[in-house]
Amino acid sequence: MAGFLRPVIHAPVLAPSLLSGDHAHLAASAATVADLGLKWLHVDIMDGHFVPNLTFGPETLAALRRHGSALFFDTHLMLAQPYRYVEAFAKAGADLISIHIEPDYDHAATLARIRALGSQAGLVLNPDTPATAVQPFLDQIDLLLVMTVQPGFGGQPFRTDQLPKLALIDGWRRERNLSFRLEVDGGVDLATARECRAAGADTFVAGTSFFKAADKPAFAAAFAGL
Ligand code: DX5
Ligand code: ZN
Repeated sequence: MAGFLRPVIHAPVLAPSLLSGDHAHLAASAATVADLGLKWLHVDIMDGHFVPNLTFGPETLAALRRHGSALFFDTHLMLAQPYRYVEAFAKAGADLISIHIEPDYDHAATLARIRALGSQAGLVLNPDTPATAVQPFLDQIDLLLVMTVQPGFGGQPFRTDQLPKLALIDGWRRERNLSFRLEVDGGVDLATARECRAAGADTFVAGTSFFKAADKPAFAAAFAGL
């Protein structure tokens, strides 16, 4: 009996972040991901209020679909009022919609609305938000995203202080026999992903490290072997 080994909950998934792709050729950036045999694409939506930057809207997802992308759109809403936009993103093709816990709105109702629209529902924690903030919602989500940088920009250094939070949430997941995915986003490369995997993460957003990788097939294969 491998009694001392923790059972693995999910095989590792690499979700390259479109934020680090070519913003004048987003369909080509998405195709780069799909051509490697990867299934997920992380799409960062920023409103200039919740985070000090602007990116894409629902029409971006719809256009990627029209250009033939069949990737799983892992849609990260960094919005002060996400409930105003979940329907538009679901209709545009978002397979999973993740909303931040920090703004004050009805999180449970918004998660339920996302699922009613036919998308998977995720919750996101900023680095300085304690894990206890999401504890009441763990049975209402398909994914929990732990930010490993302050959201807003790609290319920031990974925050190792988030590793205990991952281990804590993974422990709750096991205790309660839940199966939501545990994702990390920000400063993730192969080395930091290994640390996150050891702490319980199974889903890895990579922006800069993916799009700058000279040998993308080797990069993807390394993540598959985490
Ligand atoms: C940051 C975004 C990330 C970003 C990560 O606010 O949520 O998804 O693309 O970029 P890297 O991997 O470069 O840190
Ligand atoms: Zn993101």
